[in-house]
Amino acid sequence: MAGKLSKEQTKQHNRARQLVDMARDLTDEEREFVLDHFHESANMGRTLDGAFFTPAELASELHHVIPGDRVIDLCAGIGRLAWHARDYWIRRWEGLPPREIVCVEKDPEYVRVGRRVLPEAKWICADVLDVPGMDLGPFDCAISNPPFGRIKRSGDAPGYRGPLFEFHVIAVAETLARRGAFIIPRESAPFRIETGFVRQDSAAYERFHRETGITLRPNPGIPTDEFRDQWRDASPAVEIVLHNRDEDELEARAERAALAEREAVAIRPRRPKTTRRTSAAPQAAPPSRSCDGGDTLF
Ligand SMILES: C[S@@+](CC[C@H](N)C(=O)[O-])C[C@H]1O[C@@H](n2cnc3c(N)ncnc32)[C@H](O)[C@@H]1O
Repeated sequence: MAGKLSKEQTKQHNRARQLVDMARDLTDEEREFVLDHFHESANMGRTLDGAFFTPAELASELHHVIPGDRVIDLCAGIGRLAWHARDYWIRRWEGLPPREIVCVEKDPEYVRVGRRVLPEAKWICADVLDVPGMDLGPFDCAISNPPFGRIKRSGDAPGYRGPLFEFHVIAVAETLARRGAFIIPRESAPFRIETGFVRQDSAAYERFHRETGITLRPNPGIPTDEFRDQWRDASPAVEIVLHNRDEDELEARAERAALAEREAVAIRPRRPKTTRRTSAAPQAAPPSRSCDGGDTLF
């Protein structure tokens, strides 16, 4: 795959590798250089395994929708999403402590690079599907740009039995965090953001939702297509979808209450249509009427 790189890309990729191999800590500029120029296509014989690193500008949009102090990045690559998820300057400005970040990535070489780019994060070299058994404790938010589609996997995530890797990762994320933000293929999302929000049918999402109960929600309007030509070796149509378990639970509670109400109305005994009035029976008050003779609302 190294043949795919231009001369200039190869030069910069090699410089990034040199930086990674240096004995000293890297400066911020060097860390960014590695993120920008370490090339996933120059993978020296390993399978690409759905590795398409997120363009920097798209990754920087994601930080707007990440809440909390403890964040896990699943299928982290060399740490592009995690780098922006630190929200370093804003949190410093606001006097907040640095975010605690955990990155999970299967490829040991990416983990080695990631540890140099983001040494403040905890890096775990593992299969994402093994994470639910790792006892990492609760996170405020899980983020991911996972491999897309029907790529080979070692098993299934809790609840989901379908073929799409992105949904397995989201189902894993749901075991770790009440909130999530994920980059997924557009056809797996129940909406797309164009000039505004457009709801769309996705049979794949319907299945995922049915099997897991997880609802994927729209973001506040991140125009992912603006970054489409910034991916390397691909130009995927993607959406950023959000998960919020608090909202899922509120909606489920409201639905249960509405169902119970409908059932109660259905089984409530009906009053007979005509009742013979006895002198002892109290008379029902006539329904109130508005002045034009229609029923009033209150
Ligand atoms: C689409 S890339 C995205 C990388 C990074 N999140 C980013 O946004 O730049 C997906 C990553 O998932 C990794 N990966 C693939 N299968 C995995 C698995 N089963 N467990 C953990 N990571 C995996 C790949 O090595 C690759 O780095």
